[in-house]
Amino acid sequence: MSHATTPSALGIEDDAGVAVVTLDVPGASVNTISLAVKDEFAATMSALAEQGGVSAVVIMSGKADAFIAGADIEEFQAARTEEDARRLSREGQEFLDRIASFPKPVVAAIHGACLGGGLELALACHYRVATKHPKTVLALPEVQLGVIPGAGGCNRLPRLVGLRNALDMIVSGRNVRADAALRMGLVDELVAPAIVRHVAVRAARRLGSQAVRRTRPSGVGAWLLDKNALGQAFVLRQARKTTLRRTGGHYPAPLAALDAVRYSLAEGTERGLLHEAELFGRMAVTEVSRRLVEVFFATTALKKDPGVPAPAPAPQLVTRLGVLGAGFMGSGIAVTAAEQAGVPVRMKDADLARVGKGLRAVADVIQERVRRRTISKLEGARRLALVSGGVDYSGFRRADLIVEAVFEDLEVKRAVLREVEAIARPECVFASNTSTIPIGRIAEASARPEKVIGMHFFSPVHRMLLLEVIPSEQTAPETTVTAVAFGRRMGKTVIVVKDRPGFFINRILAPYVVEAGHLLKEGVAIEDMDRAMVRWGFPVGPVTLLDEVGLDVAVKVGGVMLEALGERVAPAIRLDALVGSGRMGRKNGRGFFRYENGKKAGVDEAVYGVLGLAKGSPKDTASLTERLSLAMLNEAARALQEGVIRSPRDGDIGAIFGIGFPPFRGGPFRELDAMGAQAAVAKLELLAARYGPRFAPAPTLVDQAERGGRFHHGD
Ligand code: NAI
Repeated sequence: MSHATTPSALGIEDDAGVAVVTLDVPGASVNTISLAVKDEFAATMSALAEQGGVSAVVIMSGKADAFIAGADIEEFQAARTEEDARRLSREGQEFLDRIASFPKPVVAAIHGACLGGGLELALACHYRVATKHPKTVLALPEVQLGVIPGAGGCNRLPRLVGLRNALDMIVSGRNVRADAALRMGLVDELVAPAIVRHVAVRAARRLGSQAVRRTRPSGVGAWLLDKNALGQAFVLRQARKTTLRRTGGHYPAPLAALDAVRYSLAEGTERGLLHEAELFGRMAVTEVSRRLVEVFFATTALKKDPGVPAPAPAPQLVTRLGVLGAGFMGSGIAVTAAEQAGVPVRMKDADLARVGKGLRAVADVIQERVRRRTISKLEGARRLALVSGGVDYSGFRRADLIVEAVFEDLEVKRAVLREVEAIARPECVFASNTSTIPIGRIAEASARPEKVIGMHFFSPVHRMLLLEVIPSEQTAPETTVTAVAFGRRMGKTVIVVKDRPGFFINRILAPYVVEAGHLLKEGVAIEDMDRAMVRWGFPVGPVTLLDEVGLDVAVKVGGVMLEALGERVAPAIRLDALVGSGRMGRKNGRGFFRYENGKKAGVDEAVYGVLGLAKGSPKDTASLTERLSLAMLNEAARALQEGVIRSPRDGDIGAIFGIGFPPFRGGPFRELDAMGAQAAVAKLELLAARYGPRFAPAPTLVDQAERGGRFHHGD
């Protein structure tokens, strides 16, 4: 068969009358459906419809452990107008309609990620066989890019799995594992990967010899409720409420998705599809979608970035990890390396009691996953067996990478470095998890400073997605690429930052929390300030953030930042007095807030007294958010100018993954670009006149304002 596109993305094999169509987009690691692929697909299907010897069709993927990752995002990003995007959606719908109404049975054989347009394709098929494999996940993640499923997903999914299940998937975009997919009726059969093709062909043949069986969801109760108009209205209303609360009104796509589903159920699929395409078009051109797509591309690009300029050396393979210090961070690093990278980890601490505590912390994280059934008991046991600990250096001699997370004290860190270097292999990379000590200072104690680097994790390590990798002046490129590659294997988004005080994240946090202190001093109530920044889009406000970080840690970091940056980060309030009063934040259950059973339970009103502050009249929210956000944005601009981060991209992604900077704003540099340098400078100058020189605009911003420059170019 010949096609317009060369080389071809589709292979066809005849399996005794069943055509097995294998999608394998050339030159790509995963399958995505571009317009070209779609056209080839459509032509192939038309030919198969006519072909006499073909009784049924099976669609599968030629990629290892990946079905179809979705539509081609670049093509949808290129759509400039609402009309362009709507047309894209209509074309996708029409193609899948042809599969749904195909005269012969079409079966999807799903192994690996089946996402977005890939799942919409599977939904259009008449039967779905999936593999029982951890890599097999099904999802409609479109809302995470600020759009909605636009190739029939909002119409077909609720009819297949019921309203509740469909809304849950479409509005959250979350992954559904194969076994859950079977339970909700999203797939019809679950099999081992080795036989998926065989079972799919058999099903296709069976369906070919009888009328095509339309699948029904298995949850009969849910289905009944869903079919009842009152029940539907109730479910939709609840979903809308929850969605509004979760998105804080910042993300229009989940609400649009709800509307698409509602409309389809009320008006039927023909009109439903038109409405879905309409809404898709509208969403695709929103600023929010633009920002989310940029974040997606930036994150993808960062994943491929070796961390040093080309030509990058190959990373050393890390097959065994050593962790010094089995405390809060050490145990977090150990469990994350074991779970994500799957390597054996050895921890060392000063005495057995502390080693035991560290191992218990490791076990807690794993057991929680077993309890929540994200992993099996067997898998939990396997992960746990990877981590061991002791009070000596046994197990460290063979380590390829050793991360230290001992006390934050230069001499202690230098001492462990010297000790461990004496016994470790000469190729072994030594990484420090310090948050405040210059890596170069630690490396002074090393006989092999080219092997010494910083790996700054955030707490809790198993949950926080960012890792800052910090080469010193003497670190070899090979060491940097090794730390970056291993960080990625640990599941982290990695940015390489300069060995400057606070690296990047603490650097931009410093003026932000200092400004929060000024506001408290001016009488702003703790909860008002937090609420204002949550409304701006942060997951938590600055005061809650301080409690999360730990007030003792904040005092320590604050001191280092004051020494490095001077007056503009001089504290307005005495955080150390709070620490003196026994308040360390969430970790000891006492901070700005009270905690009951580990849960935040309101502001501790006594805090105002300890700080010598009076709670004053509420300030207007706009001025609060402007001061707090501009303090951070301005510092980000300074950090970029000083080369602390390599690019605005790294700064944007670092802030989003490190401190939850609102993704719909795209990161500090996207936010500044959206504001425009002139406006940013004008605002900062006003603030500086009013509150002091700490708001003096960063020189790059002033420069950009004069030249009409911006941080991001070409998009
Ligand atoms: P921690 O006090 O919970 O743990 C430190 C552990 O190191 C203790 O168990 C201690 O017994 C052990 N230790 C001390 N000297 C040792 C030695 N010579 N040999 C072996 N073990 C030794 O402290 P945490 O919070 O885990 O911090 C560790 C490091 O991580 C520090 O450098 C800190 O600045 C850094 N960090 C902490 C973050 C946090 O949020 N707590 C975030 C990022 C970095």
